[in-house]
Amino acid sequence: MANGRKKIAVIGAGNVGATCAFVLAQKKLGDIVMLDIFEGFAKGKALDMSQDGQVLNYDGNITGTADYADIAGSDVVVVTSGFPRQPGMSREDLIGKNAEIVKQVGEGIREHAPNAVIIMVTNPLDLMTYHMWKVTGFPSERIIGQAGILDSARMTHFVAKAVGCNEEDVSAMVLGGHGDTMVPLPRYTTCGGIPITELLDAETIDAISKRTAGGGGEIVKLLERGSAFYAPGSAAAIMAEAVLNDRKRLIPASAFLSGEYGLNDIFIGVPIILGANGVEKILQLNLSEDELSSLQGSANFYKQQLKDILGY
Ligand code: NAI
Ligand code: 2OP
Repeated sequence: MANGRKKIAVIGAGNVGATCAFVLAQKKLGDIVMLDIFEGFAKGKALDMSQDGQVLNYDGNITGTADYADIAGSDVVVVTSGFPRQPGMSREDLIGKNAEIVKQVGEGIREHAPNAVIIMVTNPLDLMTYHMWKVTGFPSERIIGQAGILDSARMTHFVAKAVGCNEEDVSAMVLGGHGDTMVPLPRYTTCGGIPITELLDAETIDAISKRTAGGGGEIVKLLERGSAFYAPGSAAAIMAEAVLNDRKRLIPASAFLSGEYGLNDIFIGVPIILGANGVEKILQLNLSEDELSSLQGSANFYKQQLKDILGY
Protein backbone atom coordinates (compact mmCIF):
# COMPACT_ATOMS: atom_id res chain seq x y z
CA MET A 1 0.00 0.00 0.00
CA ALA A 2 1.47 3.38 -1.00
CA ASN A 3 -0.09 6.64 0.28
CA GLY A 4 -3.31 4.82 1.14
CA ARG A 5 -3.47 3.39 -2.38
CA LYS A 6 -2.74 -0.17 -3.39
CA LYS A 7 0.52 -0.77 -5.27
CA ILE A 8 0.96 -3.18 -8.15
CA ALA A 9 4.29 -4.09 -9.74
CA VAL A 10 4.37 -5.51 -13.24
CA ILE A 11 7.69 -7.17 -14.07
CA GLY A 12 8.39 -7.09 -17.79
CA ALA A 13 7.08 -4.11 -19.75
CA GLY A 14 6.69 -6.08 -22.97
CA ASN A 15 3.47 -6.95 -24.75
CA VAL A 16 1.77 -8.83 -21.92
CA GLY A 17 3.14 -6.65 -19.10
CA ALA A 18 2.18 -3.36 -20.74
CA THR A 19 -1.29 -4.66 -21.63
CA CYS A 20 -1.78 -5.80 -18.04
CA ALA A 21 -0.65 -2.41 -16.68
CA PHE A 22 -2.97 -0.61 -19.11
CA VAL A 23 -5.97 -2.65 -17.96
CA LEU A 24 -5.02 -2.15 -14.31
CA ALA A 25 -4.80 1.61 -14.86
CA GLN A 26 -8.25 1.73 -16.46
CA LYS A 27 -9.68 -0.22 -13.55
CA LYS A 28 -8.17 2.38 -11.16
CA LEU A 29 -6.82 -0.30 -8.87
CA GLY A 30 -3.81 1.60 -7.49
CA ASP A 31 -0.32 2.85 -8.30
CA ILE A 32 1.49 0.85 -10.96
CA VAL A 33 5.24 0.26 -11.32
CA MET A 34 6.51 -1.42 -14.47
CA LEU A 35 9.98 -2.95 -14.17
CA ASP A 36 12.05 -4.13 -17.12
CA ILE A 37 15.75 -4.81 -17.68
CA PHE A 38 15.47 -2.10 -20.33
CA GLU A 39 14.81 0.89 -18.10
CA GLY A 40 13.94 3.32 -20.88
CA PHE A 41 11.45 0.83 -22.35
CA ALA A 42 9.60 0.65 -19.00
CA LYS A 43 9.85 4.41 -18.40
CA GLY A 44 8.69 5.27 -21.91
CA LYS A 45 5.64 3.02 -21.74
CA ALA A 46 4.81 4.30 -18.24
CA LEU A 47 4.97 7.92 -19.41
CA ASP A 48 2.86 7.20 -22.49
CA MET A 49 0.26 5.39 -20.35
CA SER A 50 0.31 8.19 -17.74
CA GLN A 51 -0.41 10.76 -20.46
CA ASP A 52 -3.43 8.65 -21.46
CA GLY A 53 -4.87 9.18 -17.95
CA GLN A 54 -6.81 12.28 -18.89
CA VAL A 55 -8.07 10.76 -22.13
CA LEU A 56 -9.35 7.59 -20.49
CA ASN A 57 -10.16 9.09 -17.08
CA TYR A 58 -7.69 7.35 -14.78
CA ASP A 59 -4.87 8.55 -12.52
CA GLY A 60 -1.44 8.69 -14.10
CA ASN A 61 0.43 7.13 -11.18
CA ILE A 62 2.32 4.79 -13.45
CA THR A 63 6.10 4.63 -13.32
CA GLY A 64 8.84 2.69 -15.09
CA THR A 65 12.06 1.40 -13.58
CA ALA A 66 14.84 -1.17 -13.72
CA ASP A 67 15.46 -0.98 -9.96
CA TYR A 68 13.79 -3.51 -7.66
CA ALA A 69 13.85 -1.01 -4.77
CA ASP A 70 10.95 0.71 -6.60
CA ILE A 71 8.64 -2.28 -6.17
CA ALA A 72 8.90 -2.06 -2.37
CA GLY A 73 5.52 -2.31 -0.64
CA SER A 74 3.74 -3.85 -3.64
CA ASP A 75 0.55 -5.70 -2.73
CA VAL A 76 0.60 -7.69 -5.95
CA VAL A 77 3.44 -8.46 -8.37
CA VAL A 78 2.56 -9.68 -11.86
CA VAL A 79 5.51 -11.43 -13.52
CA THR A 80 5.55 -11.30 -17.33
CA SER A 81 9.30 -11.01 -17.92
CA GLY A 82 10.68 -13.62 -20.26
CA PHE A 83 10.85 -14.73 -23.84
CA PRO A 84 7.64 -15.47 -25.74
CA ARG A 85 7.58 -18.33 -28.20
CA GLN A 86 8.06 -17.96 -31.92
CA PRO A 87 6.45 -20.06 -34.68
CA GLY A 88 7.53 -23.70 -34.39
CA MET A 89 8.34 -23.45 -30.66
CA SER A 90 6.40 -25.03 -27.83
CA ARG A 91 6.06 -23.21 -24.51
CA GLU A 92 8.40 -25.82 -23.03
CA ASP A 93 11.17 -24.74 -25.44
CA LEU A 94 11.40 -21.55 -23.35
CA ILE A 95 12.33 -23.29 -20.07
CA GLY A 96 16.10 -22.69 -20.00
CA LYS A 97 16.13 -18.98 -20.83
CA ASN A 98 13.05 -18.10 -18.78
CA ALA A 99 14.09 -20.08 -15.69
CA GLU A 100 17.15 -17.82 -15.37
CA ILE A 101 14.99 -14.70 -15.70
CA VAL A 102 12.46 -16.00 -13.14
CA LYS A 103 15.32 -16.66 -10.72
CA GLN A 104 16.56 -13.04 -10.97
CA VAL A 105 13.04 -11.66 -10.67
CA GLY A 106 12.15 -13.93 -7.75
CA GLU A 107 15.20 -12.80 -5.83
CA GLY A 108 14.23 -9.17 -6.40
CA ILE A 109 10.66 -9.77 -5.21
CA ARG A 110 11.81 -11.75 -2.17
CA GLU A 111 14.05 -8.88 -1.10
CA HIS A 112 11.84 -5.89 -1.90
CA ALA A 113 8.21 -7.07 -1.82
CA PRO A 114 8.21 -9.97 0.64
CA ASN A 115 4.51 -9.65 1.45
CA ALA A 116 3.20 -9.54 -2.11
CA VAL A 117 0.92 -12.01 -3.84
CA ILE A 118 2.67 -13.07 -7.06
CA ILE A 119 0.75 -13.69 -10.28
CA MET A 120 2.93 -15.58 -12.73
CA VAL A 121 2.52 -15.29 -16.49
CA THR A 122 5.95 -16.24 -17.87
CA ASN A 123 5.95 -19.51 -19.84
CA PRO A 124 6.08 -22.42 -19.54
CA LEU A 125 3.56 -21.25 -16.99
CA ASP A 126 3.11 -24.14 -14.57
CA LEU A 127 6.85 -24.82 -14.41
CA MET A 128 7.81 -21.17 -13.96
CA THR A 129 5.19 -20.82 -11.20
CA TYR A 130 6.76 -23.75 -9.35
CA HIS A 131 10.23 -22.29 -9.94
CA MET A 132 9.11 -18.89 -8.54
CA TRP A 133 7.73 -20.65 -5.45
CA LYS A 134 11.10 -22.32 -4.86
CA VAL A 135 13.15 -19.16 -5.51
CA THR A 136 11.08 -16.90 -3.23
CA GLY A 137 10.19 -19.46 -0.55
CA PHE A 138 6.81 -17.69 -0.27
CA PRO A 139 3.83 -19.67 1.08
CA SER A 140 2.35 -21.52 -1.89
CA GLU A 141 -1.03 -19.75 -1.60
CA ARG A 142 0.71 -16.44 -2.44
CA ILE A 143 1.92 -17.69 -5.84
CA ILE A 144 -0.63 -18.32 -8.59
CA GLY A 145 -0.19 -18.91 -12.29
CA GLN A 146 -2.37 -17.21 -14.92
CA ALA A 147 -3.57 -19.62 -17.58
CA GLY A 148 -7.08 -20.76 -16.71
CA ILE A 149 -8.81 -17.42 -17.31
CA LEU A 150 -7.16 -17.12 -20.72
CA ASP A 151 -7.75 -20.72 -21.82
CA SER A 152 -11.36 -20.57 -20.60
CA ALA A 153 -11.87 -17.25 -22.39
CA ARG A 154 -10.66 -18.84 -25.61
CA MET A 155 -13.08 -21.73 -25.15
CA THR A 156 -15.84 -19.23 -24.29
CA HIS A 157 -15.24 -17.38 -27.56
CA PHE A 158 -15.42 -20.55 -29.66
CA VAL A 159 -18.55 -21.77 -27.82
CA ALA A 160 -20.30 -18.42 -28.25
CA LYS A 161 -19.60 -18.49 -31.99
CA ALA A 162 -20.85 -22.10 -32.33
CA VAL A 163 -24.03 -21.52 -30.29
CA GLY A 164 -24.61 -18.06 -31.79
CA CYS A 165 -24.89 -16.33 -28.43
CA ASN A 166 -23.05 -13.57 -26.58
CA GLU A 167 -19.72 -14.41 -24.89
CA GLU A 168 -21.17 -12.90 -21.72
CA ASP A 169 -23.61 -15.81 -21.43
CA VAL A 170 -20.90 -18.48 -21.62
CA SER A 171 -18.98 -19.85 -18.66
CA ALA A 172 -16.19 -22.25 -19.62
CA MET A 173 -13.80 -24.31 -17.53
CA VAL A 174 -10.33 -25.41 -18.64
CA LEU A 175 -8.03 -27.20 -16.19
CA GLY A 176 -4.57 -28.80 -16.36
CA GLY A 177 -1.29 -27.35 -17.57
CA HIS A 178 -1.05 -24.33 -19.87
CA GLY A 179 0.07 -26.31 -22.92
CA ASP A 180 -1.01 -29.03 -25.31
CA THR A 181 -2.07 -31.23 -22.36
CA MET A 182 -4.63 -28.72 -21.03
CA VAL A 183 -8.03 -30.18 -20.16
CA PRO A 184 -11.11 -28.31 -21.51
CA LEU A 185 -14.17 -29.54 -19.60
CA PRO A 186 -17.37 -29.40 -21.74
CA ARG A 187 -19.39 -30.90 -18.86
CA TYR A 188 -18.58 -27.80 -16.80
CA THR A 189 -19.10 -25.34 -19.65
CA THR A 190 -22.49 -23.65 -19.86
CA CYS A 191 -24.40 -21.13 -21.96
CA GLY A 192 -26.96 -19.21 -19.91
CA GLY A 193 -26.68 -22.01 -17.33
CA ILE A 194 -27.33 -24.78 -19.92
CA PRO A 195 -24.50 -27.35 -20.29
CA ILE A 196 -23.07 -27.09 -23.82
CA THR A 197 -23.49 -30.86 -24.10
CA GLU A 198 -27.23 -30.07 -24.54
CA LEU A 199 -26.62 -27.35 -27.14
CA LEU A 200 -23.83 -28.65 -29.38
CA ASP A 201 -23.09 -32.05 -30.92
CA ALA A 202 -20.11 -34.14 -29.78
CA GLU A 203 -18.12 -33.41 -32.95
CA THR A 204 -18.46 -29.63 -32.56
CA ILE A 205 -17.52 -29.82 -28.86
CA ASP A 206 -14.48 -31.93 -29.69
CA ALA A 207 -13.36 -29.42 -32.33
CA ILE A 208 -13.81 -26.55 -29.82
CA SER A 209 -11.76 -28.41 -27.18
CA LYS A 210 -8.96 -29.04 -29.68
CA ARG A 211 -8.94 -25.45 -30.92
CA THR A 212 -8.85 -24.21 -27.30
CA ALA A 213 -5.84 -26.41 -26.47
CA GLY A 214 -4.05 -25.09 -29.56
CA GLY A 215 -5.33 -21.53 -29.03
CA GLY A 216 -1.99 -19.96 -28.15
CA GLY A 217 -0.21 -21.68 -31.06
CA GLU A 218 -2.89 -20.50 -33.52
CA ILE A 219 -2.08 -16.89 -32.61
CA VAL A 220 1.71 -17.43 -32.65
CA LYS A 221 1.37 -18.74 -36.21
CA LEU A 222 -0.69 -15.74 -37.31
CA LEU A 223 1.49 -13.12 -35.62
CA GLU A 224 4.73 -14.63 -36.96
CA ARG A 225 6.63 -12.92 -34.15
CA GLY A 226 5.79 -13.30 -30.49
CA SER A 227 2.61 -14.56 -28.92
CA ALA A 228 -0.82 -13.37 -27.77
CA PHE A 229 -0.95 -10.48 -25.33
CA TYR A 230 -4.33 -8.69 -25.17
CA ALA A 231 -6.26 -11.55 -23.55
CA PRO A 232 -3.25 -12.78 -21.50
CA GLY A 233 -2.51 -9.27 -20.14
CA SER A 234 -6.19 -8.70 -19.31
CA ALA A 235 -6.46 -12.10 -17.62
CA ALA A 236 -3.51 -11.29 -15.35
CA ALA A 237 -5.05 -7.91 -14.49
CA ILE A 238 -8.35 -9.59 -13.55
CA MET A 239 -6.43 -11.88 -11.20
CA ALA A 240 -4.66 -8.88 -9.66
CA GLU A 241 -8.05 -7.21 -9.19
CA ALA A 242 -9.41 -10.32 -7.42
CA VAL A 243 -6.54 -10.12 -4.92
CA LEU A 244 -6.49 -6.34 -4.46
CA ASN A 245 -10.26 -6.11 -3.93
CA ASP A 246 -10.62 -9.48 -2.17
CA ARG A 247 -13.18 -10.48 -4.79
CA LYS A 248 -13.21 -14.23 -4.00
CA ARG A 249 -13.36 -15.04 -7.71
CA LEU A 250 -13.92 -18.68 -8.62
CA ILE A 251 -11.55 -19.19 -11.53
CA PRO A 252 -9.25 -21.84 -12.91
CA ALA A 253 -5.59 -21.02 -12.19
CA SER A 254 -2.30 -22.79 -11.61
CA ALA A 255 -2.14 -23.53 -7.90
CA PHE A 256 -0.05 -25.74 -5.63
CA LEU A 257 -1.64 -29.10 -4.93
CA SER A 258 -1.15 -31.18 -1.80
CA GLY A 259 -3.23 -34.27 -2.45
CA GLU A 260 -6.13 -32.67 -4.34
CA TYR A 261 -7.05 -34.68 -7.45
CA GLY A 262 -4.52 -37.28 -6.28
CA LEU A 263 -1.66 -34.88 -7.07
CA ASN A 264 1.17 -33.57 -4.90
CA ASP A 265 4.03 -31.08 -5.11
CA ILE A 266 2.97 -29.51 -8.41
CA PHE A 267 1.40 -26.27 -9.69
CA ILE A 268 -1.34 -27.07 -12.19
CA GLY A 269 -4.62 -25.53 -13.36
CA VAL A 270 -7.53 -26.24 -11.00
CA PRO A 271 -10.59 -24.25 -9.87
CA ILE A 272 -9.69 -21.92 -7.00
CA ILE A 273 -11.17 -19.11 -4.95
CA LEU A 274 -8.89 -16.09 -5.42
CA GLY A 275 -8.98 -13.32 -2.81
CA ALA A 276 -6.80 -11.05 -0.71
CA ASN A 277 -4.76 -13.96 0.65
CA GLY A 278 -4.14 -15.44 -2.80
CA VAL A 279 -5.43 -18.99 -3.24
CA GLU A 280 -8.04 -19.21 -0.49
CA LYS A 281 -9.53 -22.53 -1.52
CA ILE A 282 -8.99 -25.27 -4.09
CA LEU A 283 -12.24 -26.77 -5.31
CA GLN A 284 -12.38 -30.49 -5.91
CA LEU A 285 -14.72 -31.29 -8.79
CA ASN A 286 -16.31 -34.68 -9.11
CA LEU A 287 -14.42 -35.49 -12.33
CA SER A 288 -15.21 -38.51 -14.50
CA GLU A 289 -12.52 -41.15 -14.84
CA ASP A 290 -11.48 -39.76 -18.23
CA GLU A 291 -11.37 -36.16 -17.02
CA LEU A 292 -9.33 -37.08 -13.94
CA SER A 293 -6.90 -39.17 -15.93
CA SER A 294 -6.39 -36.26 -18.39
CA LEU A 295 -5.69 -33.87 -15.50
CA GLN A 296 -3.29 -36.30 -13.87
CA GLY A 297 -1.61 -36.98 -17.23
CA SER A 298 -1.10 -33.24 -17.73
CA ALA A 299 0.36 -32.89 -14.22
CA ASN A 300 2.66 -35.86 -14.68
CA PHE A 301 4.01 -34.37 -17.92
CA TYR A 302 5.06 -31.22 -16.03
CA LYS A 303 6.32 -33.19 -13.02
CA GLN A 304 8.73 -34.99 -15.33
CA GLN A 305 9.94 -31.71 -16.78
CA LEU A 306 10.43 -30.19 -13.33
CA LYS A 307 12.67 -33.12 -12.54
CA ASP A 308 14.49 -33.55 -15.85
CA ILE A 309 15.05 -29.91 -16.81
CA LEU A 310 14.83 -27.84 -13.64
CA GLY A 311 16.22 -30.52 -11.31
CA TYR A 312 13.39 -30.36 -8.74
P1 NAI B 1 7.81 -9.56 -24.63
O1 NAI B 1 9.09 -9.99 -25.26
O2 NAI B 1 6.96 -8.60 -25.34
O3 NAI B 1 8.11 -8.97 -23.18
C1 NAI B 1 8.96 -9.57 -22.27
C2 NAI B 1 9.68 -8.48 -21.50
O4 NAI B 1 10.45 -9.08 -20.45
C3 NAI B 1 10.65 -7.66 -22.37
O5 NAI B 1 10.31 -6.29 -22.32
C4 NAI B 1 12.00 -7.93 -21.75
O6 NAI B 1 12.90 -6.84 -21.80
C5 NAI B 1 11.62 -8.26 -20.32
N1 NAI B 1 12.67 -8.99 -19.59
C6 NAI B 1 13.48 -9.97 -20.07
N2 NAI B 1 14.32 -10.38 -19.10
C7 NAI B 1 14.04 -9.65 -18.00
C8 NAI B 1 14.56 -9.62 -16.68
N3 NAI B 1 15.55 -10.41 -16.31
N4 NAI B 1 14.04 -8.73 -15.82
C9 NAI B 1 13.03 -7.91 -16.19
N5 NAI B 1 12.49 -7.90 -17.42
C10 NAI B 1 12.99 -8.75 -18.31
O7 NAI B 1 7.00 -10.92 -24.33
P2 NAI B 1 5.45 -11.04 -23.97
O8 NAI B 1 4.68 -11.29 -25.20
O9 NAI B 1 5.09 -9.91 -23.08
O10 NAI B 1 5.44 -12.41 -23.14
C11 NAI B 1 6.02 -12.47 -21.87
C12 NAI B 1 5.96 -13.88 -21.31
O11 NAI B 1 4.60 -14.24 -21.04
C13 NAI B 1 6.50 -14.96 -22.24
O12 NAI B 1 7.24 -15.91 -21.49
C14 NAI B 1 5.25 -15.58 -22.81
O13 NAI B 1 5.44 -16.89 -23.27
C15 NAI B 1 4.35 -15.53 -21.60
N6 NAI B 1 2.92 -15.65 -21.88
C16 NAI B 1 2.18 -16.38 -21.01
C17 NAI B 1 0.83 -16.50 -21.16
C18 NAI B 1 0.03 -17.23 -20.15
O14 NAI B 1 -1.16 -17.42 -20.38
N7 NAI B 1 0.57 -17.65 -19.04
C19 NAI B 1 0.15 -15.91 -22.32
C20 NAI B 1 0.99 -15.07 -23.13
C21 NAI B 1 2.34 -14.98 -22.93
C1 2OP C 1 -0.68 -18.22 -25.11
O1 2OP C 1 -1.39 -19.14 -24.72
C2 2OP C 1 1.69 -18.28 -25.67
O2 2OP C 1 0.95 -18.93 -23.53
C3 2OP C 1 0.71 -18.08 -24.60
O3 2OP C 1 -1.09 -17.38 -25.93
